[in-house]
Amino acid sequence: MTTLIKSGRVINPAKKQDEVCDILIEDGIIKRCEGVISGEFDEVIDAGGMLVMPGLIDLHVHLREPGFEYKETIETGSKAAAKGGYTTICAMPNTKPATDSRETVRYIIDKAKEVSPINVLVVGAVTKGQAGKELSDIEGMKEEGICAISEDGKSVMNAGLYREAMKKAKELNIPVMAHCEDINMVCGGAINKGTKSEELGVRGISNAVEDVIVARDILIAKETGARLHLCHCSTVDSERMVREAKAEGLPVTAEVCPHHFTLCEDDIISNDANYKMNPPVRSRKDLEALRNGLKNDVFDVISTDHAPHSAEEKSRSIETAPFGIVGSETAVALTMTELVHTGLINYMQMAEKMSYNPARVLGIPKGTLNEGAVADITIIDPDREYEIDVESFVSMGKNTPFNGYKAKGMAVRTIVEGKTVYKYE
Ligand code: DOR
Ligand code: ZN
Ligand code: ZN
Repeated sequence: MTTLIKSGRVINPAKKQDEVCDILIEDGIIKRCEGVISGEFDEVIDAGGMLVMPGLIDLHVHLREPGFEYKETIETGSKAAAKGGYTTICAMPNTKPATDSRETVRYIIDKAKEVSPINVLVVGAVTKGQAGKELSDIEGMKEEGICAISEDGKSVMNAGLYREAMKKAKELNIPVMAHCEDINMVCGGAINKGTKSEELGVRGISNAVEDVIVARDILIAKETGARLHLCHCSTVDSERMVREAKAEGLPVTAEVCPHHFTLCEDDIISNDANYKMNPPVRSRKDLEALRNGLKNDVFDVISTDHAPHSAEEKSRSIETAPFGIVGSETAVALTMTELVHTGLINYMQMAEKMSYNPARVLGIPKGTLNEGAVADITIIDPDREYEIDVESFVSMGKNTPFNGYKAKGMAVRTIVEGKTVYKYE
């Protein structure tokens, strides 16, 4: 089986290649990526005027299965990601039961093989039941194929135990993905502690809730040598600490989510729980720091923290609804509209942050369009203008503050191992 992707603008971070050329795929592998390729092919995809990027990789997705299938399933979540342009996603472990055992890891891997059109990688929980008391079977889960460990949804508050987990991760050569939140400092906060929380009379979550754990985790990574990846950074001091850690040469990488580089607290519509996520959208000053950090490559990765919830759950008040918004089907739109079309980052940086760098964080041979690589490819129409419409979402979760958002830029075709798994029509 041969496929030719013709005349696209190829953005290949592995070679810093940005040029209009053809890509030849043979039996799921990229055979050539250069110039004009002629001949007979089983399939020809005209990519004129389109961007051709290595398949997007989302390090941070909540698929909800097992246990919360009323919010999302492995099938719906992975199909939503395919529509968003993702060829690989990492499933976070705050399922029910938590993904803390060989059995649950195997369940997700097997189920994904059956129902998912894209690659689903599994992140194992750091502690049993995510209870923070005892390490989970990290070694066993690694044997089953986990790509990382994380306690996402919370932090492991016992620093001694977390240090043991980091030592284990270092030994097994997997990254630790850190959700940074000192739970003892949250005190019922629902949105950022600042002007909006004052105005609405809602309890706030201060920056320090995140910052103290970012500092702690960087220091434990320094001591253990473990690869630390900081999830959903949201504060001005997170940006500073990541920058300083990198300057020191520490094994630290970090991500920002589209909602954190698009919104600030001023945008929150009172009592709309679609503006409630953890960490919360912060002040304008924080927003600016995050944008700068993306521009200057302090932040390596754009991930979604796709967190579907039911309509009923999100219809509750901003104080009582659960944290989280969906992101798989809006990330390309927000990244292109907010960062690329505004000139803050270029196409190469977008491909780095949404594909190449996530692959480097995981240590997997993806995120490139090099010859010999598996043909996971995303084709993006950079000029397509449309309004985000939750009714068109494949995800079961419709919880987003971006319904009606005027976007420019859309993933129009997602290719996994040479096969088209999603096509816009
Ligand atoms: O907003 C969030 N939602 N933040 C998290 O850390 C967890 C996630 C979820 O699982 O809903
Ligand atoms: Zn988190
Ligand atoms: Zn998360």
